[in-house]
Amino acid sequence: MADQKSDNGGKGAPVPPGGKGPGVFAKWLKEQIQNLKGRVKEEGESLKRPEKTQLFKSMFRVKHDDSDRSRALGVLSNVFFHLHPAKINRDAVRYRFTWGMGGITFYLFLVLTLTGVLLMYYYHPTKGQAYQDIIYLMSDVPFGKLLRNMHRWAAHLMVITVWLHMFRVFLTGSYKKPREFNWCVGVVLLVLTLLLSFTGYLLPDDQLGFWAVTVGTTMAQNTPLLGSLGPLGRQLHITPYNDVRFALLGGSIVDANALLRAYIWHCIAIPIIASVFMGVHFWRVRKDGGISGPAPVMLASDMDKPVPPYNPPKM
Ligand code: HEM
Repeated sequence: MADQKSDNGGKGAPVPPGGKGPGVFAKWLKEQIQNLKGRVKEEGESLKRPEKTQLFKSMFRVKHDDSDRSRALGVLSNVFFHLHPAKINRDAVRYRFTWGMGGITFYLFLVLTLTGVLLMYYYHPTKGQAYQDIIYLMSDVPFGKLLRNMHRWAAHLMVITVWLHMFRVFLTGSYKKPREFNWCVGVVLLVLTLLLSFTGYLLPDDQLGFWAVTVGTTMAQNTPLLGSLGPLGRQLHITPYNDVRFALLGGSIVDANALLRAYIWHCIAIPIIASVFMGVHFWRVRKDGGISGPAPVMLASDMDKPVPPYNPPKM
């Protein structure tokens, strides 16, 4: 395989090495067939033992063997036995590296939960009453305006910080092995954060919320396979009365049922699902060896040499 890389610069399909006569070509072809057979055998083996595949290992960590050292390691690396990690990479926890965005996103979630529970004391998810409650909260309830604005601004900020966190993770290459699974958990958290924002929009039952949800659910109606107006919708006998828009609104118009559904998704279902995923996310950061940390700086000419021990400069 190394020859083949050098012959085509590592790009595209393998090409035979330059040489004279059909003998060289036949030898090369034989090698390629051998390689292919080896790959097929490897793939077959991995199907028989899925726990050896990279996909499996990215989700579940391998067991320790039964030595004293391994057992001690098992306790030290267990999040429940040992809440704080025994060792952390000093450079990985610098704000310069993480921007603190994951942590800030989590704190904003806590602010939203607290202010959200307090808001629930003043809000009824029913037509007519919902908007009145907001007016009452803003004008008569002591600190009501502050409470509502804290919730609203924390929600806007959380959407911004979650994107920045994802951007940082991407820039530092922290989505790569062994953190692929946590990246996927993160994608789910991103979607849940956006859904929290979206479902909260309708709750004041004002013009802004009404039209935002009208536009959002009409987009859902145009989704392939799920929406009555989307590609293949008609062929699958999906109508405005059984499609995804209907499920989201609890009917075919944005009305009382939609308000109640948005309320339940926003205040109960999505926060619980997001909390579970956050628990898994933090647990995985720990299991993947802590926050990734900056890679040691290397010159291109040193790439083939053995990696020297990393001694970061004292700041
Ligand atoms: C509610 C949303 C989220 C919260 C509360 C959250 C929280 C955190 C926290 C506290 C960390 C530790 C390091 C740091 O603070 O940067 C972290 C790491 C990580 N997050 Fe998130 N995160 C969220 C969403 C996401 C998203 C959208 C992605 C990517 C799609 C993601 C992928 C990762 C990965 C791969 C790591 C490990 C990074 C490393 O080791 O350097 N997270 N997250």
